Amino acid sequence: MNIELEKKVRDQFVKLFGTPEVLVKSPGRINVIGEHTDYNLGFVLPAAVDQSIYFAVARSGDEDQCSLVSVDMNERYDFKISELKPAAAGSWANYLLGVVAEIVGSGRVVKGFNLVFAGDVPKGSGMSSSAALECGTCFALNELHDFNIPKVEMVKMSQMAEHKYAGVKCGIMDQFASMMGKEDQVLLLDCKTLEYNHFPMELEGYSLLLCNSNVSHSLASSEYNVRRQQCEEGVSVLNEEFGNIDSLRDASLDQLKECESKMDNIVFKRCKYVIEENQRLEDVTKFLNSGEIIKVGEILKNAQNAMRYEYEVTCKEIDFMADFANGHEDVVGARMMGGGFGGCTINIVKKGSEDSFVAELNELYKNEFGKEITPIPVKISDGVSLLSKNLQA
Ligand code: GLA
Repeated sequence: MNIELEKKVRDQFVKLFGTPEVLVKSPGRINVIGEHTDYNLGFVLPAAVDQSIYFAVARSGDEDQCSLVSVDMNERYDFKISELKPAAAGSWANYLLGVVAEIVGSGRVVKGFNLVFAGDVPKGSGMSSSAALECGTCFALNELHDFNIPKVEMVKMSQMAEHKYAGVKCGIMDQFASMMGKEDQVLLLDCKTLEYNHFPMELEGYSLLLCNSNVSHSLASSEYNVRRQQCEEGVSVLNEEFGNIDSLRDASLDQLKECESKMDNIVFKRCKYVIEENQRLEDVTKFLNSGEIIKVGEILKNAQNAMRYEYEVTCKEIDFMADFANGHEDVVGARMMGGGFGGCTINIVKKGSEDSFVAELNELYKNEFGKEITPIPVKISDGVSLLSKNLQA
């Protein structure tokens, strides 16, 4: 919990609009393993973290008029619910507007409101600041109007906001983790059935450490959607051959190999990655439960290589960081986290060695790329939560 940020958002709201009615905290997330498996209806292993976006919201007193204020960007976006449409491509406002559109589209009546937010989820870092924005907006508006929207429905609305208003055909992992996370627990989610369970993340003697490459990725910059399309191409070949294959979740590696000659080599590589990533996740889950952390680390190394050479979503800075970590005696394994093309690596590091590892990596990274990495300690935390409601002036 970042008390200062909460205060900053509240103070700014008071200054601009008076007393807020609802205060909400909405977290970013990590993902231990299971990358690009969610939209292929496979499995993911994320958790919500302490880095969050804080929201202050109240009715505007008008039926229609709304204002959104980003404290960090020092920007304001005004709109009318009756004239709802996406803002310019790339605008932060789209994540919030998209959520309003989903709520309105579900037949609920949203009244004019003011909303102020600020956060410490680094943008473009693969920690899902966009999902934090969407889920926090949805949760805050739900509280403000007493809609009683079930959490899983809010997750889906937030995901659709990203599809329709931000133009990224993301899976459901980020929004699910941000909304449903639990302190000190990872979330094993089946993205096909949406069945999930939480289990404790115990890394006896080791800690999770993110290293931000400070290369900001832009998922909307088409590559993400291209990957999704390549997987769909693979599914259609597999389905033609075997029937009953609606997603890569339904296909085995043997089936894929049988179809190799019938598909483009790139499509084959993408599908192979996804099918094996689900297997890697199953193994990681097993080894986490049995406390075999070294084996977990080995799988992270394999996952990194697969993302680099088969799914091709890494970049030179990330490869450099992961290579260094994966050859370091105090690191059991590291891989890129999130959608790709920059952002963070997730590292399992021997407790007590975090600072020396970061210092060594940073020195080499600075020499190679002329910029620094940012270490981000991980504290696994609760999902979106209500901080207060119906505050008095
Ligand atoms: C982004 C998307 C998620 C997921 C990851 C990759 O974070 O929003 O749905 O696909 O990339 O695992």
